[in-house]
Amino acid sequence: MKKHLVVLLFLFVPMAIYLLACNTQPTAKPNAGDDKKQAEDALLPTIDTSKIPNDSMGALIRYGRNLMLYTAYYIGPNGVNGKYLGNKMNCTNCHQDAGTKPFAFNLMQSHDEYPQYRAREAKVLTLAERVNNCVMRPGNGRPLPLGGREMVAFLSYFKWINSFVSEEQKYKGTKPLQVELMDRPASPTVGKELFVQHCQRCHGLQGEGLMEPDGTTFKYPPLWGMSAYQPGSSMHRVIKQAQWLKANMPYDSAKWFAPILSDAEALDLAAFVNDDIQHKRPSPATLDYPNAIEKAIDYAHPPFADTFSEASHKFGPYQPIIKYWKDKGWKPTY
Ligand code: HEC
Ligand code: HEC
Repeated sequence: MKKHLVVLLFLFVPMAIYLLACNTQPTAKPNAGDDKKQAEDALLPTIDTSKIPNDSMGALIRYGRNLMLYTAYYIGPNGVNGKYLGNKMNCTNCHQDAGTKPFAFNLMQSHDEYPQYRAREAKVLTLAERVNNCVMRPGNGRPLPLGGREMVAFLSYFKWINSFVSEEQKYKGTKPLQVELMDRPASPTVGKELFVQHCQRCHGLQGEGLMEPDGTTFKYPPLWGMSAYQPGSSMHRVIKQAQWLKANMPYDSAKWFAPILSDAEALDLAAFVNDDIQHKRPSPATLDYPNAIEKAIDYAHPPFADTFSEASHKFGPYQPIIKYWKDKGWKPTY
């Protein structure tokens, strides 16, 4: 009799937990029509791939778009066109919809914005050099040759998507959504609970993601571990990641115009994902930012221009840091 009870418990407890977990999932499902309408209402630029020309320029634009979508296949560790990236992530994993989704590190205006002074290197970079930054970190790879077919294809594609941005659409959807900063530090402990609730079903309990059956790339990309982005990537910054999460995750339900996560939840989740005490990542070649006064305040790698600790830069609270900087007449970025 007792044995049966135990068996029943084994059956029912996980089932109850499963049902409870399902109940916490949002019921709203993404709807492409919805997206397009919201984008049009907000005057956000969108592209039309049927307008890619059928000439040699068009061939490069198409290849550039494919490089964004299928990066690992073409130039990943076993890339058919060259082995450049050190991991099997794709550019579109962060720059969603091949760099055209609003508030997903959107790249539609990047071609207009370079050459540009970059604080990380403390020099003016071309767009090609900026592409190589992402190839090296988060991509954990080695730079693409600047005049090679792959780089020319990336740039051709960026120029083409840029042509869909009208004068009145400038700077719309290209900067991340803002999150309201908290009075307390972002909490990896709270973030872990939220992760189990909202993220684990795709990214896995160990943040390992899910590889496609053919092994070329991920269906769900990894969030930490040796196959994920390194420290020193912008995605490793808690505020920056929270801004992106708010607009884009959970993947199947969040919309920039209808986020699932609250600002505090996005910050706590980003703190958990990016907690280096719990999670390993590949070592970056350099962390640079030669001028500490040009570091983003959530770029938590010393030396710092101020007196705040590494933990404060990492998790906050950020307002005291922002205030300190403003009082000094410096310009805090995050
Ligand atoms: C792990 C996430 C991630 C991946 C993967 C990734 N990037 Fe990025 N990328 C970022 C972040 C974060 C930024 C900075 C965005 C910001 O500051 O708002 C960025 C910035 C850029 C920029 C500069 C945009 C601008 O207008 O200043 C370019 C160009 C770029 N990435 C290209 C690529 C390419 C090409 C790939 C694939 C080889 C790639 N990225 C892969 C996260 C990623
Ligand atoms: C339904 C599955 C699903 C859920 C749930 C989900 N994600 Fe994702 N996530 C994805 C997919 C797919 C991508 C890649 C997006 C693309 O390629 O367009 C991604 C990309 C990411 C990335 C950037 C790429 C990387 O690997 O670094 C981060 C960070 C991330 N998710 C965090 C989260 C967090 C935190 C949650 C919980 C709030 C979450 N995700 C919930 C499917 C999911």
